[in-house]
Amino acid sequence: MHSRTAVVAVVLLGHAMLLPFTWAQNAGFVKSPMSEIKLTGDTFELYCDVVGNPVPEIQWWYAEINRADSFKQLWGGARKRRVTINTAHGANCVSVLGITRLTLEDSGTYECRASNDPKRNDHRQNPALSWIRAQATITVLQKPKINASDQIILSAETHAQPFTIWCNLTTTDNVPQESFWMKNGVEIDTTRTKNKDTSHRINKAKADDAGEYMCVYTFEKAPNANTTIEVKAAPDITGHKRSENKKEGENATMYCKSVGYPHPVWTWRKLDGIFYTDIDNSSGRFFITNRDNYTELNVLNLDITTDPGEYHCNATNMIGTSGTTTILRVRSLLAPLWPFLGVLAEVIILVIIIVVYEKRKKPDEIMDDDEPAVPIKTNSTNNHKEKNIRQRNQK
Ligand SMILES: *[C@@H]1O[C@H](CO)[C@@H](O)[C@H](O)[C@H]1NC(C)=O
Ligand SMILES: *[C@@H]1O[C@H](CO)[C@@H](O)[C@H](O)[C@H]1NC(C)=O
Ligand SMILES: *[C@@H]1O[C@H](CO)[C@@H](O)[C@H](O)[C@H]1NC(C)=O
Ligand SMILES: *[C@@H]1O[C@H](CO)[C@@H](O)[C@H](O)[C@H]1NC(C)=O
Ligand SMILES: *[C@@H]1O[C@H](CO)[C@@H](O)[C@H](O)[C@H]1NC(C)=O
Ligand SMILES: *[C@@H]1O[C@H](CO)[C@@H](O)[C@H](O)[C@H]1NC(C)=O
Ligand SMILES: *[C@@H]1O[C@H](CO)[C@@H](O)[C@H](O)[C@H]1NC(C)=O
Repeated sequence: MHSRTAVVAVVLLGHAMLLPFTWAQNAGFVKSPMSEIKLTGDTFELYCDVVGNPVPEIQWWYAEINRADSFKQLWGGARKRRVTINTAHGANCVSVLGITRLTLEDSGTYECRASNDPKRNDHRQNPALSWIRAQATITVLQKPKINASDQIILSAETHAQPFTIWCNLTTTDNVPQESFWMKNGVEIDTTRTKNKDTSHRINKAKADDAGEYMCVYTFEKAPNANTTIEVKAAPDITGHKRSENKKEGENATMYCKSVGYPHPVWTWRKLDGIFYTDIDNSSGRFFITNRDNYTELNVLNLDITTDPGEYHCNATNMIGTSGTTTILRVRSLLAPLWPFLGVLAEVIILVIIIVVYEKRKKPDEIMDDDEPAVPIKTNSTNNHKEKNIRQRNQK
């Protein structure tokens, strides 16, 4: 009794994170495994998260349905390597039990056992006292069979033509509640019906109609059943910039968006005259980000000599290919200064003209003085003398 109050106090203190030094703490569940209903062929994972000091050990145990008295320990690699157990020790101990390719025989009770009792593996100790346990029931049901239409390939000839995809629930232990259609993981409105046969019609096929379609059947007491039907089309580029205009030193962003399915492999190249060349990234300034139907080319710290030109994005999938170009223009940083520089240049030229003219004027006068051909030489000499006198007077 006394020790339990101490433990409670420690847990409370521990949660308030006031512990200046380590205290012993019994193992306790933070997260325990949850019961689930699964279909044959699927996968399940059970989580178990335990706190305690020292960090507890986790084990997984299994008992067949209605045989709760006969638990056996489960190990990674069991059941023809369909069982995996991943355990991580940090502040807590977290363990994940996974079973793949489920069969009906995997149904049963799965138990997470945890303990940090130092004597937990001592055979004289009663395990019920030293281990804490949490159980989950896994029920595996036969997966319903769905007969569905084959994949559809939209080509140039079938564009604007109608197409129909269909699903037919052929065998199931359970009565379906409803069925509906999804495209690329999103439910298509107004496709819910209560029929075992369901179909979806597109009246005018476009590349945009390509994608991953799925018919989904819902059941009251079983997981959804579904089948995927692929509608494929060559990529078609539906968005890009015609041009990108930037100043040197800035960053440029070019992108392309596509429709079509499967999602394309994207490449960027530069148009060099009439040839496409791989982008020269020796400067390390080119960055490409690809998402399913979107690609982005970023050029950092633009260089006015090497970077301008036409950049071509190429989208290619198994059905076809498509591409388009963006013109990258890079302006000089001095460009906004040009009008001012023009005025400045005019002023400088004007000043030069004036200076040159002034410099040329004086030698002309002297040459006039010495000009022997000038008829009235005396006048000129007089002028010269007068000028000299004036200059002397000024001093
Ligand atoms: C699936 O449907 C097709 C066409 O309706 C039919 O020929 C085929 O036999 C069906 N398969 C099964 C397993 O029901
Ligand atoms: C769906 O399957 C059932 C039973 O196999 C069959 O009778 C029915 O004709 C099928 N419907 C379609 C559209 O294939
Ligand atoms: C489709 O079926 C798979 C496998 O059974 C299941 O994991 C998935 O959740 C189902 N998807 C939908 C939307 O029902
Ligand atoms: C260009 O991009 C880099 C990296 O994203 C960033 O650090 C820099 O500030 C950007 N330059 C301009 C002019 O926006
Ligand atoms: C691109 O893909 C995303 C998610 O896959 C989708 O939401 C979006 O509508 C798609 N865009 C185009 C243009 O296909
Ligand atoms: C260009 O080089 C940089 C730096 O080496 C690198 O991070 C980037 O991924 C490269 N870009 C391309 C398109 O290869
Ligand atoms: C895209 O690149 C592929 C492989 O280099 C080439 O065969 C195809 O013609 C290109 N598509 C376009 C539209 O340029």
